[in-house]
Amino acid sequence: MAYGLLKGKRGIITGALNEQSIAWKVAELAHAEGASIVLTNAPVAMRMGEINKLAEATKAPVIGADATKDEDLDKLFTESVAHFGGKVDFLLHSIGMSPNVRKGKAYDDLNYEWYKQTLDISAMSFHRMLQSAKRTDALADGGSVVALSYIAAQRVFPGYGDMADAKALLESIGRSWGYYLGMEKKVRVNTISQSPTMTTAGAGIKGFGGFYGFAQEMSPLGNAPAEDCAKYCLTLFSDLTKYVTMQNLFHDGGFSTTGVTPGMMAKATGEE
Ligand SMILES: NC(=O)c1ccc[n+]([C@@H]2O[C@H](COP(=O)([O-])OP(=O)(O)OC[C@H]3O[C@@H](n4cnc5c(N)ncnc54)[C@H](O)[C@@H]3O)[C@@H](O)[C@H]2O)c1
Repeated sequence: MAYGLLKGKRGIITGALNEQSIAWKVAELAHAEGASIVLTNAPVAMRMGEINKLAEATKAPVIGADATKDEDLDKLFTESVAHFGGKVDFLLHSIGMSPNVRKGKAYDDLNYEWYKQTLDISAMSFHRMLQSAKRTDALADGGSVVALSYIAAQRVFPGYGDMADAKALLESIGRSWGYYLGMEKKVRVNTISQSPTMTTAGAGIKGFGGFYGFAQEMSPLGNAPAEDCAKYCLTLFSDLTKYVTMQNLFHDGGFSTTGVTPGMMAKATGEE
């Protein structure tokens, strides 16, 4: 059911690769809630073509931008403002990739060139994006920015490798920009720390099935699906959360604050 939560708002959504992508669900829901959106992804991801299906369904233009390139981001913001005929009310950063994780390099044997790429693509891109938005004066007063994170920023999950460091940096960048953009234009900036989710990025992590199953077992509400993550993003883009900023918000079915569950106890004691 649509509530018209984003009626009249304009937003940019990064990271919709295919129907499994969290950003894909955010785009569908934002459209259903009355927003006008622009979709963007790296040119290489766009060549896969699936994003055009989403563009058609959400009546959104697609503007290619590699999030590690300032000139691409400036073009994204300038063209989006021209398309909307006004400034951008909300922005979703839904971008992550680690060459080390993809190629199976463990945390104690990192390739440092790839490590730089992990940080550049998965975290610094968030800073770049907001610096570009400021440079092009693209964000509307009272707007809202969300980036997607994971609890490996706070706790060690072997297999998540250098992405843990990227997420810690991403969350810190969110807090810092939340201060600057809040002071300047009452724009709020938050990160959402999402449960393990079956997507292309998720499936790229060694032992992802284990991560998923463990979190499912350890969450009173179970793992949060991508659709529900999209709903949470929408509340933050809406006017219902105007004073929430500089937070890392867990959307994880209670995983982050659960010590143990009967199911895990049974597994640990062999009494299943
Ligand atoms: N899947 C999970 O378990 C999970 C859990 C918590 C957080 N997250 C985070 O959610 C976000 C979205 O991931 P997802 O799970 O929907 O997977 P996904 O693979 O569908 O999305 C990742 C996106 O990043 C884009 N991307 C990669 N390099 C880029 C670049 N240089 N410029 C622009 N875009 C680029 C990809 O094209 C893709 O669309 C990521 O930040 C991810 O870390 C995922």
